[in-house]
Amino acid sequence: MSQPISATSVTSIRELSQHAGQEVELSGWIDNKRSSGKIAFLQVRTAGGVVQAVAGRKDVSEEAWADIERVTQESTVRVRGTVKEDKRSPIGVEIQANGFEILSLTQDYPITPKEHGTAFLMEHRHLWLRSSRQRAALRVRSEVEQGIRDFFYDRQFTLIDSPILTPAACEGTSTLFETDYFGDKAYLSQSGQLYLEPAAAALGKVYCFGPTFRAEKSKTRRHLMEFWMVEPEVAFLEFEGLCALTEEFVGYLAARILDRSKEDLKVLERDTAKLEKVVPPFPRITYTQAVEILNREGNPLKWGDDFGGDEETILASQFDRPVMVTRFPASFKAFYMQPDPENPETVLGLDLLAPEGYGEIIGGSQRIHDHDLLLSRIQQHNLPVEAFQWYLDVRKYGAFPHSGFGMGIERFVAWMTGLTHLRETIPYPRMLYKIYP
Ligand code: 4AD
Ligand code: MG
Repeated sequence: MSQPISATSVTSIRELSQHAGQEVELSGWIDNKRSSGKIAFLQVRTAGGVVQAVAGRKDVSEEAWADIERVTQESTVRVRGTVKEDKRSPIGVEIQANGFEILSLTQDYPITPKEHGTAFLMEHRHLWLRSSRQRAALRVRSEVEQGIRDFFYDRQFTLIDSPILTPAACEGTSTLFETDYFGDKAYLSQSGQLYLEPAAAALGKVYCFGPTFRAEKSKTRRHLMEFWMVEPEVAFLEFEGLCALTEEFVGYLAARILDRSKEDLKVLERDTAKLEKVVPPFPRITYTQAVEILNREGNPLKWGDDFGGDEETILASQFDRPVMVTRFPASFKAFYMQPDPENPETVLGLDLLAPEGYGEIIGGSQRIHDHDLLLSRIQQHNLPVEAFQWYLDVRKYGAFPHSGFGMGIERFVAWMTGLTHLRETIPYPRMLYKIYP
């Protein structure tokens, strides 16, 4: 007999359909098993998904059949057999097994097909990753990340990796994770933005994409302590252009997920009709108009107050696609936002609110490019001027208007997948008081 194709020589079992009629050998985990005593159906999980191996008692050796009978969920196995077309399978094929071997027998796997509570599953996150919904969510995440990189690469942005250890705050001092830096204080980065702005002077169009950290003392389904943020920053881009970039970016990613993650969205039972509507242009309202809508809807928010989750949900529910809220009061926004020339009490900032209660997925703004104005804002916010000297330099040596935004990818993935809590959109979520595993 000729040498069988091994699972490692096909990149993914999705390619098995190109090998119908051929012998294959693959190693993987038992996702599930059914046996009548004469014929066994083994769901084997390996790179690319799950393939069904059908083994008849007569078709395999006695030893192999004994292994098939005693094999348990999540044992590792090696299967050998012929690839057969199977119209009902999502990968279009199954394997007619003629050989089977247990590589490692699993005993008492903690996660069984019965229902488990979320606390239990979170404690076993390292194993929970193996279940079909978690795999689907992580694949969508991976597709989103690839989409982000392609979007910016195709538009000639340069990727700039911003530092994780930083000497100063970017997004307020109340959510900083502090650490010791050889006797000095350092903080885990809340955003790469401040480091991108100088890079925009060097390269024009830049973005960063990495983990960011916020010690959020509130326990909500929309907050993680560690999350991944993608942030573009563009020289000479002003506020209108920023709104357009935001829209184009989100429209691109939603279309890409609908196109490339169909099967995963099916596993997650996502209502994709809702995502089909995510096509620019998105509605735009000012903060002042948003307050009017809220008051009309019976929410008592006063002009000058920041939105919470409830306000975001009410606002988003007025539209069937993401809504862009712009021109917020300067009082509760970051120190670096450019004042609105039409009303200096407000700033050229935007928040993009996703439909269906997913809340703010993007925050961005035009940045202050005037040196003296920025200096006075740093002082007003009681930030240490010495720590921001380098940031002020960007305004001293060739000042330029510029804008950018940040998107937390877990929120975006939650919205795409329809998952209600961010904890399932990242492999190992870091949540309030929870850092295991
Ligand atoms: O609105 P934020 O705080 O904006 C910034 O950090 C800017 N420096 C970005 C920029 O202009 N370059 O955060 C941006 C996004 C939010 O819209 C949200 O999607 C996400 O980051 N985010 C969180 N995601 C998960 N958990 C948290 N605790 C988050 N905090 C913010
Ligand atoms: Mg924000």
